[in-house]
Amino acid sequence: MTSNSRYHETYARWQSDPEAFWADCAEELDWFEPWSKTFDPDAGVYGRWFTGASCNTCFNAVDRHVDSGRAEQAALIYDSAMTGAKRSITYAELLSEVEALAAVLRERGVEKGDRVIIYMPMVPEAAVAMLAAARLGAVHSVVFGGFAAAELATRIEDCTPKAIISASCGLEPGRTVAYKPLLDAAIDMVAQKPDCCVILQREQLAGELIEGRDIDYATAVAAHKAAGTKVACVSVKATDPLYILYTSGTTGQPKGVVRDNGGHMVALHWSMKAIYGVEAGEVFWAASDVGWVVGHSYIVYAPLLKGCTSVIFEGKPVGTPDAGTFWRVIDDHDVSVLFTAPTAFRAIKKEDPAGSLIPNYDLSSLRSLFLAGERADPDTIEWAQAKLEVPVIDHWWQTETGWTIAGNPLGLGALPVKVGSPTVPMPGYDVQVLNDEGHPVSPGTLGNIAVKLPLPPSCLPTLWNADDRFKDAYLDEFPGYYKTADAGLMDEDGYLFIMSRTDDIINVAGHRLSTGAIEEAIASHPSVAECAVIGVEDALKGQIPVGFLILNADVERPTESIEKEVVQQVRNVIGPVAAFKLAVCVERLPKTRSGKILRGTMQKIADGAEWKMPATIDDPTILAEITETLDARGIGTFAPS
Ligand code: COA
Ligand code: AMP
Repeated sequence: MTSNSRYHETYARWQSDPEAFWADCAEELDWFEPWSKTFDPDAGVYGRWFTGASCNTCFNAVDRHVDSGRAEQAALIYDSAMTGAKRSITYAELLSEVEALAAVLRERGVEKGDRVIIYMPMVPEAAVAMLAAARLGAVHSVVFGGFAAAELATRIEDCTPKAIISASCGLEPGRTVAYKPLLDAAIDMVAQKPDCCVILQREQLAGELIEGRDIDYATAVAAHKAAGTKVACVSVKATDPLYILYTSGTTGQPKGVVRDNGGHMVALHWSMKAIYGVEAGEVFWAASDVGWVVGHSYIVYAPLLKGCTSVIFEGKPVGTPDAGTFWRVIDDHDVSVLFTAPTAFRAIKKEDPAGSLIPNYDLSSLRSLFLAGERADPDTIEWAQAKLEVPVIDHWWQTETGWTIAGNPLGLGALPVKVGSPTVPMPGYDVQVLNDEGHPVSPGTLGNIAVKLPLPPSCLPTLWNADDRFKDAYLDEFPGYYKTADAGLMDEDGYLFIMSRTDDIINVAGHRLSTGAIEEAIASHPSVAECAVIGVEDALKGQIPVGFLILNADVERPTESIEKEVVQQVRNVIGPVAAFKLAVCVERLPKTRSGKILRGTMQKIADGAEWKMPATIDDPTILAEITETLDARGIGTFAPS
């Protein structure tokens, strides 16, 4: 395939000298001390980027723009479809907010290297909190608001924060989520408690502050603003952690993905122009949540590092109030580039298939739509392209990388699109498809997608306090490579196709969930003897979890009441984000002769996909029972013959 894109020459330039490539990109940012080595192969688990350098991410995201003429430009635009609030915050105002909150934290003893957990809804104070921690050289860990107290507690236990910044409530359609009781319950569950909690009281529902521990956000920040307290950016090493973001692993214990300061800035800054085609001063909108990696990278850090205006949107693509909300936000704020998950567009398309609300708005500012977080189905891409008349770009990445592994770099000139493929590897990534023995397969052959080490800047150097788990989960299976745990293929033109996960992670409405974690939550119900959770195809959310339960022999209560309790239990333990609504009691689970539950086969049956009777199955009749149960309960796309 031919095109006028500069992608091939750029990728070749990176391949011929990766260190020179990234060093050039790094020159565009401000450093307190330059690096002694662009890449040091002997540092860290597999090497580290920009060793010897010192910097501050907040300085580059905020102060630098105030100093260079962007003080009066909007840095953040807050738009709440839940309350109708709209607020624009200039770079100068953002600096003053960040300094004041940093002063509050510093006063409570937060220093370089201390952890700060942020548990907040989509309000600008969430971004301010991240930047304030970064300013002090503290390490933030944002926890998504849809997680329950127990999940929050697991994260508090693992990273032992000195402070927690939270809000009294979040706003979901039809209900106000009281965050404060969840926060208090989580703190009750952990041994090592934070010294203080800074609580943003929202007018929709105030939280009760605990004397001696809780600080009222607004009062404390206002006091420092009035006093004009200055807080200089603390110099940290490029290799020091900026944040920890927990993501689903194969067990209930989430993995703390570590992001460094230096490499992260460099890769994200480069991506804004090269991948998204965005210049400083333009409006960028990532319709995600700060609790996810997309929110970290493209609501907060990348747009601000580039000097863009970033939209913080509180609401949903549908129902707040209708399927025209995204178009309204684009129109109101002159959004140039929108980035969201395919599930958001599937929700809009379901509600307004003809796109009849689109002509009510002026979308002339919009140049492109980027989709990520899950497989972008061709129907959704084609619908969006036809209705919006802009390029729709699928790109593939992971919490672990923090930015695109494979995409179509609009800023370098678009490559021809192959619907169903996120296009090609970005500079920094030598992507290879390997067979189970670790050997590269030929083009067009399905295999394990792996990235040859070293990973590029921004990718995780390790897991928080868990080098061995990092090696075990990502590096050991294919020596010399990072295992993405995605399966797929690369065609003759070098285009990647991402087909499925190779582990027990499922993707529900663009949210990454571990079936193992859901199984752990179910298994703690006293009537459940054994269980298996699979992700079943869903037209809106991509996948939804379904739990199969075997009850203890002495259970006499109706199975329906236990199924209901189990659904509630998962909501209580993991949170509403698990979207767990289907628990089904069965007599037996299909297993191999060695006792392994055949989840993959169950999933294929539920999805109506082709499946083969596993040679190692213990009792083949159980699969017929599962098929009957799915049919009787109307679960999955399974069509009875
Ligand atoms: N705080 C508290 N609860 C939350 C929450 C938050 N921040 N976010 C979601 N929830 C709740 C929802 O209210 C819902 O609760 P319910 O079971 O009482 O209805 C539950 O978690 C499941 O949420 P979700 O799977 O998101 O479903 P939804 O019906 O609320 O919305 C979509 C469906 C498709 C509209 C929505 O998922 C969406 O907009 N997705 C965009 C994709 C996205 O942001 N991806 C992130 C990575 S890019
Ligand atoms: P997360 O860490 O939550 O971003 O989830 C990462 C996982 O989501 C990947 O490993 C993929 O399985 C899936 N994913 C993300 N983007 C895409 C995409 N564009 N196409 C296919 N799968 C994707």
